[in-house]
Amino acid sequence: MGEVDIAIEEVKKLISQNIIRDSILEKSTNFEGYQDIYYQTNENITDYLSLIDIANKENALCVAGSGDQAFSLIYKGINEIDLFDVNKFTEYFIFGLKKAMILKYSYDEYINTLNKLIIQMTNPSEINEIIFDLLSYMDEPYKIFWQAILEYNWKLQKELNIYTNFMYGLNVNAGLKIISNFCPFLTSEVDYNSLKNKLSTVNMQFKYCNAINLPDVFNKNYDLILLSNILDYAYIYWGYNWKIQNLNNYIANLLKMLNNNGIIFLHYIFYASKPFHQSDFFTPYLDYNYELANLKNKHQIILIRK
Ligand SMILES: C[S@@+](CC[C@H](N)C(=O)[O-])C[C@H]1O[C@@H](n2cnc3c(N)ncnc32)[C@H](O)[C@@H]1O
Repeated sequence: MGEVDIAIEEVKKLISQNIIRDSILEKSTNFEGYQDIYYQTNENITDYLSLIDIANKENALCVAGSGDQAFSLIYKGINEIDLFDVNKFTEYFIFGLKKAMILKYSYDEYINTLNKLIIQMTNPSEINEIIFDLLSYMDEPYKIFWQAILEYNWKLQKELNIYTNFMYGLNVNAGLKIISNFCPFLTSEVDYNSLKNKLSTVNMQFKYCNAINLPDVFNKNYDLILLSNILDYAYIYWGYNWKIQNLNNYIANLLKMLNNNGIIFLHYIFYASKPFHQSDFFTPYLDYNYELANLKNKHQIILIRK
């Protein structure tokens, strides 16, 4: 079976599991393979990208996630972006659905339609129409993928009488409406159109990769590296009692991937998150000069500059 066929079967499985699951609250934090996705960022990307001078930056290595980090970088003028994620569904969501939405829709249509995908009560036939109308804006593998998912949804409705918005269940932050001020390209219609214009000329690639293996998988140097809050889950790879040395070694290897004057957005901190989950992590012990910047809503970000 080819990659796209595998993706189709795995996402169909996700959809059927979501339909029989009693409550979305039962979902576990598992990012590996094909998993539910973030339809939008929960980070204030607008705030943290305004901390740096991006004018002289050209390329970036960036978590895939919802795609909002990458689309924000494109809006800011970065035209070469390598995306990584352990969740392979992110590729089909970002390069298929979300990119097609930006290419097709006006600013208001984009926000309204993304909200429709997110809301549980949206009529499944309307979801079918939305995705069907986006197919012609997608490149071949993504078109094949979403076409197959559409057919599957059609079958669920017609043959099995399951009348539910399957897109609702595939969203990690189900029900959370679009927070437009978190993404610089959603600040206004002008900003959104600027991203739309840049989108067709940008060079954006996706590779399945765990953040801890970035230096092994990407053999390039970057001006920017964006890691989101992935280090919150470092305990999965380094164990619950991981040592600060793990982090220092990790940063040392990332710095080797960074161009001079490059910047690593090392870790996004949510006000309620226990930094780096049960670790001995405490920033003053870092071997490297870092900046801890305060963002709105008690969010923070840790940056390292080379
Ligand atoms: C950390 S999550 C949280 C959402 C994030 N705050 C945002 O705004 O997008 C973002 C993405 O990181 C991915 N991820 C989590 N741990 C990872 C790891 N160790 N390596 C690569 N990607 C990872 C998830 O699959 C998800 O798509």
